[in-house]
Formats: sequence, C-alpha cells, structure tokens
Amino acid sequence: MPLTRRSLLGLLSSSTFFLTIAPGSVMTTELPAELSSLDFPQGVASGDPQPDAVMLWTRAVPRSGSNGNVRLLLQLSTDSSFSTLLLQEELHTGAERDFTVRAYIDGLTPDTQYHYRFLGAEPSVSRSGRTRTAPTPGQARKVNLAFSSCQNFEQSYYGSWARMLEEDRAAAEGDRIHFVLHLGDFIYERCWARRLDGSAQSRAVPPFPHGVATPTTRDAVSLADYRHLYKTYLSDPHLQEARANWPFICTWDDHEFADDNFQSFTTDDGQAVLEAQRKLDANQAWFEYIPAVLDELQQSAHDFRAQVLEQDHATHNQAAVDSLRIYRKLGWGKYLDIVLTDSRSYRSPPCLPAGFAASLGLPLNPVELVAIADGGSAYAGGNPPATLPFGDGTMANPAKDRAPGSMLGLQQRAWFLNTMKASAAPWKLWANALPLMPLRLDMSSLPLTEYHDSVFNIDGWAGYPYEVNVVMRQLENDGTTGVVSLSGDHHMHGAGTLRRSTTEADALPVAVDFTVAGISSSPIFEDLFSAANADHPDFAALVYRKTDSGIEPVWNISMLYGVLAAYTYSKTGLGAVTSWLGPNLANPGLRYVDTTANGYGLASFDAEELRVQLVTMQDCRENFEQPPAIRHVAQFRLPLWRTGERPLLAGPEFDGGAPFPFKIPTV
Ligand SMILES: [Fe+2]
Repeated sequence: MPLTRRSLLGLLSSSTFFLTIAPGSVMTTELPAELSSLDFPQGVASGDPQPDAVMLWTRAVPRSGSNGNVRLLLQLSTDSSFSTLLLQEELHTGAERDFTVRAYIDGLTPDTQYHYRFLGAEPSVSRSGRTRTAPTPGQARKVNLAFSSCQNFEQSYYGSWARMLEEDRAAAEGDRIHFVLHLGDFIYERCWARRLDGSAQSRAVPPFPHGVATPTTRDAVSLADYRHLYKTYLSDPHLQEARANWPFICTWDDHEFADDNFQSFTTDDGQAVLEAQRKLDANQAWFEYIPAVLDELQQSAHDFRAQVLEQDHATHNQAAVDSLRIYRKLGWGKYLDIVLTDSRSYRSPPCLPAGFAASLGLPLNPVELVAIADGGSAYAGGNPPATLPFGDGTMANPAKDRAPGSMLGLQQRAWFLNTMKASAAPWKLWANALPLMPLRLDMSSLPLTEYHDSVFNIDGWAGYPYEVNVVMRQLENDGTTGVVSLSGDHHMHGAGTLRRSTTEADALPVAVDFTVAGISSSPIFEDLFSAANADHPDFAALVYRKTDSGIEPVWNISMLYGVLAAYTYSKTGLGAVTSWLGPNLANPGLRYVDTTANGYGLASFDAEELRVQLVTMQDCRENFEQPPAIRHVAQFRLPLWRTGERPLLAGPEFDGGAPFPFKIPTV
C-alpha cells in the first residue's frame, strides 16, 4: 500500500493526532457520549504555526484519579464563542504521556486567527486558546513577535508575562504580537533553597517525586521529575495565559536538561558525567509539554523516539542525543524565515576544564587561551603552539591535536549555513539560545598590570570562538544579509553587531544580535555581585559601586566602556569618565547591556526595517494583583541591508528616561 504523507507521519509519531479541516465543513456542536470528566490544570497551548497548520496542546487529567485512558474532544473555530465549528474531533490520552495531548491540525487558511478548546464530560471544558496560522511565503506582512527566555519559577513571579499580555491587549491591532519565541530555560532542573544573598526565594517548586537534594539545591533526575517541573511552571496563571493567547515557537537551552550540559553530559563540579537516561527523560518531557512541529516538517527536526539504552555504554550518549531533534526552520510570510538551533545536544565539551586558568595563575580565562584551547589543531591556520604562552610558558598545549570546538556540531552547522544561504526571505531570524555579541573584559587596558583581555563565561559562544568565526565568515562569503540573532541565557538585555572575525581589527559587521533578559530568573548582576563580594573583592570595583541610595551596576560600564572606565567611575563617581576612557575596544559593535534586568523583547520586521524593544521590568519578586510596571524600554532600529551593504544598528533610545549606566537605586 503506498504511503501518503499523512499515513507516514502517523507511523512516525503515534503520540500525535493528525487532523485535517475538510474545506467548507461546518459541524454541529452536539457532544458524543462517553467522554471522561476532566480537569485541564496546565491550560492549553499552540506551537509552530505553519501557513496551513498548527500544533495544539493540552493536558487532560481525569477527575476520577484513574490512570486509564481518557477521551476528550477538541473543538476549533474562527470565532471565540465557538458558535460554528470547523472541527470537532475525539482524542484520547493516558498516563503513558502524562495525560498530555498533541494535535496537529492542517487544512487551515494562512494568516488567520483561530480559537480552540478541549472538552470532557459536561461540565468539564478547558479554557479557550487563541492561535493563528503563518502567512504564506508570498504574503507581504509585517511580523510582530515577542522573544523571551529564562523563566525560573522560584526567583521571581511572572510579572513579565503579565505585563506583556496587558500591553498587547492595549495595543493597536497592527502592533499586536503574532507569536512568542522562547529561547530556552523554559524550566530549571535545579531548585535553589535561597537566593544568592541568602534571602528567601519568591516561591518554591513542590518536592520532586524523585530528585536529588543537597543542603542548597534540589535537582530533577527522572522523567517524573521533569514532568513535575513542567506541570509546576505551567500552573502559573500568567504563563498559562500567554500560552493560551499566542502560539509559541521554542528552542531549549541548558536547564531543560541540566546546567551547562553538553550532549548527554552534565558538568556539575567541573566534571563531565554521562547521564544519558536523564537526557532521554528531559527530552521526553520537553516533547510532551512543548507543542512543536517536528516530524511534520519533513526536514531535520523529528519527534521524540524512545530509546532503550543497551548494555554497551559507548552507545548511550548518541542514543540519548538522537532521541529528539529540534533544530528546524519555520517561515512567516514574505519577510521572515526563522531558523532555530539546538545549542546543547551536539556541542563539544568545554574547551578548558574548570579551574584551568587558576592553575596557570590567571584570574580569568584570557581570550587568547580560549582561542588556543577551542581552535585546537586549526589554531593559527593549523599551527597551534606546542606550549601555552601563560604561566611559566612550559605547559604543553593540551588542544594541539584536537579538532576545533563546535557549539552546533558539524551536521547542524552545515544545515544551518545551507538553510541561511538558501533562504529567500529578506530577514533571517536565528533563534539562538546564547548571545553572540562580544562580552569581553578588556583587562589589558589597566595600566601597569599584566592582565589579559578575558572572557568570563566559556559556556557561551565566547567559549567557541572558532565556530563563531566560521559562521560569520560563511555568512559574509555567501553574501547572506538580514541575519538577526535573537538570544537569551545570560540573564541580561544586550544588543550589538557581529563581525566577520572576533580577532581581526578591521573586520566589518555581518549580522546583529539582540539578547533578552530572563522573564524571571535572577539578573546576571546578582551573580556578579555575589562573586565580587565572596571570592574576588578586587573584582568588586568592576561590578558595582555603593552610593547613599544603594548599589549601581558598574558592570554595564565594564562591558560597554571598559574596565578602566569602570574602575575609575567606581572610585570617583564621575560619570564623564566613561566617555573619556571608553569605549571598550575589546567589544566592538556592542551597543547596549542592561545586567540588572528582568523582562522581555519585542521585534517587528517589515520590508525595510527591524524595530526591537528590550523591556526592563520593575522588580517582580513580590506577588501582584495588577501587572508590575515597566522600568524602561530600550528601542533599536535596524534598516534592512542588502548585498554589499553592512548592518547599521541605531539605538538605544529610551522610554522611561533610563540614563547611562541605567542607574537604579537598589538591586
Ligand atoms: Fe537561564
């Protein structure tokens, strides 16, 4: 029997329902008998809109407490009252998928809004969800999206989601958000007992079914634990409302599995530990709770495929990594292609082990050391040094015979570059979990010291400079324009242009990166403040300055204007020194950082221009009745550039009067 596309998809994914709207059909609202009595405690969601299709989601829990299969109905309509239905189909789910439901609906009309809901035996009905299909590649439509990351459930309430919803309700129709891009850390596998300053968290994830606890942390370690996290996070009314209000397009970062992971390895305490079953469990839970279009795309992405780890341990890592492939390309009308990458599953191990720089007597990882360690045998055009030019100069270069590092892995990188090159859309959005903009500490600018320019986080792209250069050079060589990376992970807002090379002084910009602060995760400044006070008191002047009214985030100056400006400002309080001594030449193209922020980003793409707003919220650590206020908004404009032209990023301009260096009275 010949396989149709739909029957093939049915074979590939037994846990997804495939439903098609029959043209012109309007069905009755009569309910069939024998439905289960249900609750929908995690609400509803939709994901990855296509011009003719979308994935719908819910979790339908039997009120009886039974673990047996449950039956429910899905209804789809173009009106919010569901007075006429385009589709009414019976679905089922059960304990084997934690009562989650994925339903792929095709036959839809492009660029159209739909409403959907799920029903059990009367009177059980889910909240209504709203979604929309993408325009076709030929439809010229302005695109409005929100971008977000890092929504730690415990560290703050979801004031960012509440404010985004409120602003969107008040916006003119043409300015409303079409979809939300989520760039990772949707959940956190780790729960901390207290904040870094010792104070209580805003709220707590209930005890894990399994979990591993230390005096200060609790970690998810099993499928039940990861499911528990998604259920807990999605119990929040504001996140639930956001998912019901807009379709989401999601990639992941590290905390969907484990902090600073690579492939199926965790790196707690600086040691790489293979945890393949845990990676499988994390992947399965993501697939169950995040409605994404994967198998249906007929491209690199594919649905979760359960794996049994065999006796041979050597196969475990690959088996777990291969269980779910989420890198994929989506389109949104004529102007925008969206290319989502997976920054975790295929990356090479960290180029330097924890504590390596300290063993050479270095306070931080110098840029050159990272370049040597990451570049491996390809460093300096294939001439890596035999010994490292640090310490007493006798340490052998451990990376001399190693392949260069890669965050994407060679297969995904080739796919990414081919996809970018082949895109006919003027704007190519790279949904990229981690920021690409240069965030170096220009320590060599301090007079009379032997400090080196350094990076402070080699888990990010700063630890993979070889691949950054490969990607940027290829984009330039291919003449690919309109590439905009939207990123998260670093718990700060930022904006900057990206050059062909991270080391060539005369390299020109080829792409632009906007990184978004966490929805609720503690801003990076709190980590830096804690580190400066705990272990590195000499570092404090580069991080903060005490004033009569509180703490100023001097780290913003360190990044944008350099450490000499930051140090001088800390000691004098003279704001003018920033412009006398800056900018930070080690961070060319960096336009903005706001390291004390929680919030979200908004982006609007049209034929000529991209507009981005980075929204910084007031403190969201207390629960609220009304959505918390916005502290300030940084606005950017980026005209579309064409072959032979360079990106010219303008901004920030502020709403809310934020003065440099974005002073706030307390943190
Ligand atoms: Fe995060």
